[in-house]
Amino acid sequence: GAGLMGADHAKIVAEELPGATLQLVCDMDEQRARSVADACGAIDIATDPKGAITRQDVDAVIIASPDFTHAPLSMACIAAGKRVLCEKPLSQASADCIAVMEAEQKAGAKFVQLGFMRRYDRSYQEMKQALDNGHLGRALMMHNFHRNVETPAADFTGAMAITNSAPHEFDVVRYVLGTEYAAISAFQPSRSDARVAPVVMVLETVDGQLVNIEINNNAAYGYDVRAELIGENGAVATNNVAYTRTESALTQSTNYDADWRT
Ligand SMILES: NC(=O)c1ccc[n+]([C@@H]2O[C@H](COP(=O)([O-])OP(=O)(O)OC[C@H]3O[C@@H](n4cnc5c(N)ncnc54)[C@H](O)[C@@H]3O)[C@@H](O)[C@H]2O)c1
Repeated sequence: GAGLMGADHAKIVAEELPGATLQLVCDMDEQRARSVADACGAIDIATDPKGAITRQDVDAVIIASPDFTHAPLSMACIAAGKRVLCEKPLSQASADCIAVMEAEQKAGAKFVQLGFMRRYDRSYQEMKQALDNGHLGRALMMHNFHRNVETPAADFTGAMAITNSAPHEFDVVRYVLGTEYAAISAFQPSRSDARVAPVVMVLETVDGQLVNIEINNNAAYGYDVRAELIGENGAVATNNVAYTRTESALTQSTNYDADWRT
């Protein structure tokens, strides 16, 4: 998939990944594959993903095609013994996710990594450290906000707020709290227009914590992702990087350490 994300991944592999060669760009749309391959200096292009995955000159794969393709293409990578960075979500159906995990376990090695980048964000890492170091006491609640200016595609649905956007939050909460979910409820306020309304989820963990996740794909004002963790002895919130756009570069204007309230 050489769309928005695929083009970005291709550029990173070509320019920033030591030891990697961008061997081929595959997209069902040949022109897209060609234009990203030319822009990033890839050696070849392809339009058939399964054929591309089994090629001898391909060691590892990035899947950046639409959500419904992720599980079958991850399966093809496992079958071919190729490591794969797959964009989230692994699937829109939990049964398909489990099938991929079972195939990986059967293959006896870790082949699939998903594009969950919050785990590599210093704010969330420091939030986890604050909990693990005992500064907050036992975790009670976590509040998560995920807002976009508008839905990424015209055919984006309320269900996709859960299957496409929320997986980032499902993942980072499991990472920070180190626990599993026991139950989930979802609610939607009504909008005055036909746009996808926010989805608010309340999750209960097996350890008795409450987590709320707000997904607002039509927040209008900006891209706004943050979280707060409340423990029995204090709270910690992410303090995201604020950037000001200059003519030539993005300048970091605040530090992005977690913000403490203990
Ligand atoms: N990690 C993140 O934060 C993040 C952000 C945005 C999107 N994503 C994920 O990345 C994926 C791609 O999103 P996008 O915004 O780049 O979409 P996009 O529509 O811009 O690009 C998708 C590309 O895949 C191609 N394609 C479709 N079916 C294909 C197939 N079977 N084989 C090969 N190519 C195929 C299309 O021609 C298109 O070029 C989605 O699954 C999305 O959930 C992740």
